[in-house]
Amino acid sequence: MRPEWLREPADVNALVAHLWSTTAHKVDGVLEVGGVAVTDLVATHGSPAYVLDEADFRRRARAFRDAFAGADVYYAGKAFLCTTIARWINEEGLCLDVCTGGELAVAERADFPMERVGLHGNNKSLGELAKAIEIGVGRIIVDSFDEIDRLAALTRELGRTARVMLRVTAGVEAHTHEFIATAHEDQKFGFSISSGDAFEAARRVTGTDGLELLGLHSHIGSQIFDTAGFEVATRRVLALHARISDEIGVALPQLDLGGGFGIAYTTQDDPSDPAQLAIELTKIVTEECRSREIPVPHLSIEPGRAIVGPAMCTVYEVGTVKEVALDGGHSRAYVSVDGGMSDNIRTALYGADYSATVASRVTGAEARLSRVVGKHCESGDIVVRDEFLPVDIQVGDLLAVPGTGAYCRSMASNYNHVLRPPVISVNDGEMSVVLRRETLDDLLATDVAMGDLES
Ligand SMILES: Cc1ncc(COP(=O)(O)O)c(C=O)c1O
Repeated sequence: MRPEWLREPADVNALVAHLWSTTAHKVDGVLEVGGVAVTDLVATHGSPAYVLDEADFRRRARAFRDAFAGADVYYAGKAFLCTTIARWINEEGLCLDVCTGGELAVAERADFPMERVGLHGNNKSLGELAKAIEIGVGRIIVDSFDEIDRLAALTRELGRTARVMLRVTAGVEAHTHEFIATAHEDQKFGFSISSGDAFEAARRVTGTDGLELLGLHSHIGSQIFDTAGFEVATRRVLALHARISDEIGVALPQLDLGGGFGIAYTTQDDPSDPAQLAIELTKIVTEECRSREIPVPHLSIEPGRAIVGPAMCTVYEVGTVKEVALDGGHSRAYVSVDGGMSDNIRTALYGADYSATVASRVTGAEARLSRVVGKHCESGDIVVRDEFLPVDIQVGDLLAVPGTGAYCRSMASNYNHVLRPPVISVNDGEMSVVLRRETLDDLLATDVAMGDLES
């Protein structure tokens, strides 16, 4: 009944340190992050709330920047972006990857230097592309032949040059410890190397006035724990890079290997640190370039999850506890919290595993296998599928889930018209609101027909 990897804890009060941001610890059973007790945070800002550990976020950003000192590190804003994050990323000397006009608007509002922004997206609109060119975005990662045509027309019309990279698919798909290397990838992103589309795209871009081809870009997946998949992809991408040099006569100055570096959501996960990743990726690139006798391009990477994921946790309040009988005389405790799939869709969407701990008190009770669920009208509304929680867990307890910084707030929805929680940053005993809690007025603001009801 319990997943094989899940062990019953010796002490149900204890935090598994490496799943939490670096400043997180418990004092008499109360979780403190950034010197702030989550009980105080909830008393001030309500529940549920995302708690963002500023020192931890900055430390992880800096660790990537320092480890990849000869390269550029683009923080992948899709993991979580707001003006505060853009500002911190800038202050820590990283670049920023955005993939829509909305994310670009956040970067602009935060005064992020546009030459250090990369714009992704498989279906960027004319408006998004025009805006990117006008405000001087440093690189546009081109994803289709239609986009090449759009950019050619736009740069002509605006009398500007766009610096671009080509998103290529190397036939490698990696998730966690597994990767698959095939000739083809059946997905929507990029130009296939094996079909010849990627070479043809390079030919068209290099033959277009107004477009400057900086290099090739490959992103192979997410939650990746070793570099074997990167190695296969890099060889294939550098083979194309060399062919472009030989046959088109253009030595591309850059290469981007994307993001996808894994983090520890539960005790199953054992991520590499940035220093180790830097050593391994740099070795893969330099050895492949040496064997092909080509200059080593300037490298860039795009970590999102590995920077912001562990820097946040979500604090919920328990609303109901239910014992549900299972087959074979077993039972499971269903602990319902005041959020759910609207603030963390990853469990429902990807079958992601999370962990949880009681965050507001110490307990002497035994642990039992429990499931943390949300308040939505979906039986798949699960936050933490399996966790040992104390048998005395009760209504009003605070429950904290670590590792919710990436793709939780950024994928949050208003399903069931639930209001999205705030993001509260904590540092040195101070809390500040980074994103405020939504209100019913926010929710109803787009319902313009409401006026008809009132009149
Ligand atoms: C092109 C690209 N770069 C970077 C990332 C960031 O991935 P992660 O947050 O897993 O590091 C993604 C995620 O989907 C991506 O599509």
